[in-house]
Amino acid sequence: MHYYMIFIITVILHKLSNALDTTICTNDGTCECRNNNVSCTKYIQEAPFILPNNTTTIYFVDVPITAINNNTFVNGNLQSLTWVASKIMIIDALYNCNELQYLDLSQNNIQKLSDDTFKNCFKLEYVDLSYNQISILSDNLFSYTKMLETVKLEYNTFNIITQNIFKENINIKKLSIGNSNFFILAENAMSNLNKLEYLNIENSGIEYLNKSSFGDHNKNLHHILLNNCTNLKSIDNALIKSAPNIETIELKNCGSIYSLPPNIISLKNLKSLQLFDTEIQPKCHNGWFSQWYNNKNTIVIGYQGYLQFKENINNHDCPAKIYYFSDTNTLTLTKKGIINCMAYGNPRPAITWLVPGGLTFHENKEADVNIYNHPDVHNWDLKQIDNQPILISKNGSLHILRMLRNSIGNYTCYASNEHGNDSKIVEVHLDSGIFYNIKMNAIILGITSAMGFLILTILCCAFKLLLIRLNCIKKRSKPTEAEMETTEQNDV
Ligand SMILES: *[C@@H]1O[C@H](CO)[C@@H](O)[C@H](O)[C@H]1NC(C)=O
Ligand SMILES: *[C@@H]1O[C@H](CO)[C@@H](O)[C@H](O)[C@H]1NC(C)=O
Ligand SMILES: *[C@@H]1O[C@H](CO)[C@@H](O)[C@H](O)[C@H]1NC(C)=O
Ligand SMILES: *[C@@H]1O[C@H](CO)[C@@H](O)[C@H](O)[C@H]1NC(C)=O
Ligand SMILES: *[C@@H]1O[C@H](CO)[C@@H](O)[C@H](O)[C@H]1NC(C)=O
Ligand SMILES: *[C@@H]1O[C@H](CO)[C@@H](O)[C@H](O)[C@H]1NC(C)=O
Ligand SMILES: *[C@@H]1O[C@H](CO)[C@@H](O)[C@H](O)[C@H]1NC(C)=O
Ligand SMILES: *[C@@H]1O[C@H](CO)[C@@H](O)[C@H](O)[C@H]1NC(C)=O
Ligand SMILES: *[C@@H]1O[C@H](CO)[C@@H](O)[C@H](O)[C@H]1NC(C)=O
Repeated sequence: MHYYMIFIITVILHKLSNALDTTICTNDGTCECRNNNVSCTKYIQEAPFILPNNTTTIYFVDVPITAINNNTFVNGNLQSLTWVASKIMIIDALYNCNELQYLDLSQNNIQKLSDDTFKNCFKLEYVDLSYNQISILSDNLFSYTKMLETVKLEYNTFNIITQNIFKENINIKKLSIGNSNFFILAENAMSNLNKLEYLNIENSGIEYLNKSSFGDHNKNLHHILLNNCTNLKSIDNALIKSAPNIETIELKNCGSIYSLPPNIISLKNLKSLQLFDTEIQPKCHNGWFSQWYNNKNTIVIGYQGYLQFKENINNHDCPAKIYYFSDTNTLTLTKKGIINCMAYGNPRPAITWLVPGGLTFHENKEADVNIYNHPDVHNWDLKQIDNQPILISKNGSLHILRMLRNSIGNYTCYASNEHGNDSKIVEVHLDSGIFYNIKMNAIILGITSAMGFLILTILCCAFKLLLIRLNCIKKRSKPTEAEMETTEQNDV
């Protein structure tokens, strides 16, 4: 009887302590626990989830809980949390996320995230909240997560990205924000994102992609995706100018684009411009595209409407307009250089260059009745000039064959046809790098000489001291007072 009681108590105690030790891994096999990775699919249980102490990774698919709070997980030291295709609606702050780097909560029902959601997640680098119903992104949502590099917010229902949302997130490289309600990218919304490489605004309602939403330095921007942006009217030319390393621009199924930025032709790394099912309106300001398309048709992909575009635009009278030139050009002494000036007009415009020193160069001068009878190259009194070190090419570029000091200055490009004219000034400078090198060399030479002199002096003194020690030189006696007086008088 006595022993029987003890046995029962022991069993009960055993069961109890087992229950305390029971982690999420000790279930019927819906969860798999391996290498610190707890992975559950279709796991139906109430929180809290008790994790093995060494858990760093959670991988939940279809684990239908509606709210996450600081009691959802017990134990564990999470670095990576994936909880997708479930029913999460509400997230309180993720309190135990000090080590969290990776968070994927896509395909849930999240509607709103409080300012505190990521308050302690200061190591977070990757966050995916796509395919939810987030209708408002609060200004401070990401203000604690300064390490963020990838942010995926596509397929939600918010309609604006304000200028504050990413103000602290200077490390973002990949950003996806498109959704069909989204139509306002506020001024300066992206202006702190100097490291941005990939921007995806697909499937959204934006009309303009303006430079004013961005900062001045977008040198890292390689990919811009705007597919299915059926309201898109224009992309700012200045934005393209600030992002010279763009490799891909995707504009598939974007309806009818009012204005395509001509600075696209300056993108040296551009590998593809995708235009399937998109129309570029055949307006004079898009005329540059017809010239460029012919030159580099490997880069434009899927523009079925090109022939139609070309035919339409050829029926317009277009005044001459310069669409591409560089404001300043820095050339190297004695080297070759090109100064670009490209103009569109219908009929094809005449290009005239006025260079420092007064020479004038013409190309296609027949298009302008005022200049058609000028010599191709002439000085101020219309005298033909031969053998000059500058040539003008068919596309309007000026080639300087040998850059000299007197080639510095303002070059004026003038484009004209019967419907109008346009002009731009290009300032040409000398590469200061050479001067800098010369200056640095001079400084180094100076320092070396000084050091040399110092060492020599020290050696000399040391030698002298040695001689004195050896008594080879008599110490000079101090000058007498009379001598000093005479020298003072001489000085006066
Ligand atoms: C925790 O670590 C122990 C050994 O260190 C290991 O046997 C166990 O599988 C780990 N747990 C998980 C969930 O990986
Ligand atoms: C964790 O396990 C899941 C399922 O086996 C796997 O898909 C995931 O990649 C694993 N995560 C890590 C970080 O190992
Ligand atoms: C996990 O760690 C806590 C204390 O940090 C300890 O009380 C508990 O027994 C540990 N659980 C396991 C299964 O090791
Ligand atoms: C959990 O969250 C509540 C408020 O939601 C807070 O009062 C409490 O201190 C938190 N607990 C921990 C351990 O952070
Ligand atoms: C973008 O530019 C267009 C046209 O220049 C202007 O109408 C629009 O208000 C600008 N949008 C923003 C958000 O700055
Ligand atoms: C564009 O929209 C179509 C249908 O609306 C969809 O099938 C396609 O996946 C979308 N493309 C992208 C890149 O999102
Ligand atoms: C204009 O044509 C010249 C060759 O004549 C070429 O070197 C130059 O790169 C062209 N300019 C542009 C902007 O394509
Ligand atoms: C070149 O033009 C700019 C204005 O475009 C002017 O400020 C500058 O003084 C001019 N330089 C010369 C050498 O004429
Ligand atoms: C250039 O165009 C302007 C109007 O835009 C006109 O007033 C001017 O006379 C034109 N200049 C020449 C030389 O045709």
